[in-house]
Amino acid sequence: MLNALPWTAFEHDKVHFWIHYGLCAFGFLLAVITFISQTTKPAPYGRHHKSDQSCGPMVHQRIAHTISDATPGVLLFSLVFFLYGTEREYPNIIFFCLWLCHYIHRGIIHPWIMKYSSPTTPLGIPLGGLFPNLLYSFLNADWIGSANYDPGYYKDPRFIIGIVVFITGYIINRYADIALCKLRANNSIGYSIPHGCLFNMISCPNYFGEMLEWFGWALGTWSLAGTVWWLFSCATFVPRARHNHQWYKEQFPDYPENRKALIPLLY
Ligand SMILES: NC(=O)c1ccc[n+]([C@@H]2O[C@H](COP(=O)([O-])OP(=O)(O)OC[C@H]3O[C@@H](n4cnc5c(N)ncnc54)[C@H](OP(=O)(O)O)[C@@H]3O)[C@@H](O)[C@H]2O)c1
Repeated sequence: MLNALPWTAFEHDKVHFWIHYGLCAFGFLLAVITFISQTTKPAPYGRHHKSDQSCGPMVHQRIAHTISDATPGVLLFSLVFFLYGTEREYPNIIFFCLWLCHYIHRGIIHPWIMKYSSPTTPLGIPLGGLFPNLLYSFLNADWIGSANYDPGYYKDPRFIIGIVVFITGYIINRYADIALCKLRANNSIGYSIPHGCLFNMISCPNYFGEMLEWFGWALGTWSLAGTVWWLFSCATFVPRARHNHQWYKEQFPDYPENRKALIPLLY
């Protein structure tokens, strides 16, 4: 029989308890607002950027993404975990390493290897990413620095399945990003139909992979912080995958009809 709450946290610190769960409630609200706004109109970057749309001055795309992702995901996350957190057992350390694996890639490597169609992006895009990244990075570092997991948690199916799902999502996300890069092997800036592996089933395996990662994270950490972060990711990926899928169908009359937007066979 599984323990419904396989951890203790904030037991002797009511202020910390209320700050953490208050921010979780705010994170949930932000996910709902994001879902509504992204469904109405896709964020104006990449294929959805229109020159007549104003989203602030244009800034260097690679530097902007590095700042908006690495500052919260690597720097803030590590500072909160090491300076503010108190728990250092193996689940806490494993979660710390998983998060960092993702964000070192996303914040420091990914922006410098992707073949963007434009060297610049409207300032509103990285700023719009920075704020939620700060919030959810703080929340998740606060959780894994504060949660005291049961001693046998390493055998718990939530921990094991969560990690397996996270790693599977990570591999799918990496594979998809590399495949997208290869579409621009000759340094073109145009778009073409991606093929191979999950691209044969869905339009956005990169989003699907990352959505799996954060689902695995929420499951493994068994936390409200992880859950609101996963919900926020879904709130960006579900509408954007729909917009991307629609865009592919409009751009390419021969776009494969059986391909779904985000979830193989389903959506
Ligand atoms: N956690 C979150 O909330 C969150 C939110 C958004 C993104 N992300 C992650 O960030 C990464 C990038 O996201 P994204 O929205 O920029 O992904 P994307 O729209 O799929 O674009 C990724 C890269 O591939 C290029 N590309 C896409 N489709 C192409 C095609 N058909 N032909 C040629 N090139 C193509 C894009 O070019 P352009 O330069 O023309 O766009 C861009 O350089 C993903 O791994 C995603 O999971 C995370």
